[in-house]
Amino acid sequence: MDYLALNKAAWDERAKIHLASKFYDVPGFIAGNTSLQEIELEALDVQGKSLLHLQCHFGLDTLSWSRLGANVTGVDLSSTAIEQARALARQCQLQADFICSDIYQAPAQLTQQFDIIYTSYGVLCWLPDLQRWADIIAAALKTGGQFYMAEFHPVQALMEGYSYFAQAEPDVEQEATYTENSSSKKHTMVTWPHSLADVVTALLNAGLEITALKEFDFSPYDAFEGLVEGQTSSERPRYYLVHQGQNVPLVYTVSAIKNR
Ligand SMILES: C[S@@+](CC[C@H](N)C(=O)[O-])C[C@H]1O[C@@H](n2cnc3c(N)ncnc32)[C@H](O)[C@@H]1O
Repeated sequence: MDYLALNKAAWDERAKIHLASKFYDVPGFIAGNTSLQEIELEALDVQGKSLLHLQCHFGLDTLSWSRLGANVTGVDLSSTAIEQARALARQCQLQADFICSDIYQAPAQLTQQFDIIYTSYGVLCWLPDLQRWADIIAAALKTGGQFYMAEFHPVQALMEGYSYFAQAEPDVEQEATYTENSSSKKHTMVTWPHSLADVVTALLNAGLEITALKEFDFSPYDAFEGLVEGQTSSERPRYYLVHQGQNVPLVYTVSAIKNR
């Protein structure tokens, strides 16, 4: 099974659907809104830093970091998403490099090391090998550089019937997308579960020092079945999943430093 070809075809189609979706609100972004969420905005100071965004989709977050003063490079498997990202950068007159590549092949196209590597929300499940992923991150960071990820919590996937623990074989499923256009055509997609311990262990084995691991009982995105919008003092909506009267962890973040 050619998992990359299947996932690329699905993400090419999703990128077209997402560009026109309310979920991604591209007109709002063009008008000057950020696509970034309170979680990562509070965690990172990117002004004047070089930033590599892994699995950048069609570049909204990448370009939002650019608006905050970062020198950005985005990498994604989907050629459609990368074409859209380049077009958005031109339209918004933002400086950004976008590389179309499988993450595991990306190092061949990276010509520098970065101050910050960022990746977020719906990224790890597409990757079969977390140790190779973490090794690539460590190699692409400058000494003293920072890795930051914000990801959906694997317990949320468990609640949907996926394995929490790593499995030898991936899940192969027909899936529609997660935006409001979810009645669109289904595509075959190939995913792997990754436990929190597997993520942390891969980063530690790659030589990074983990400086923070946080878990959140809300998602900034209304991207799953059964979420309810909660009361919040923040301007942004927060979505919760309640199981047997308790909040389910929906997002986690990891911060790490490359010391040498
Ligand atoms: C859920 S999206 C990332 C979402 C991002 N937070 C956003 O909302 O813009 C996942 C991205 O991973 C990319 N992707 C999947 N497998 C990949 C791989 N092997 N190498 C690089 N990118 C990959 C897809 O093309 C897709 O754009």
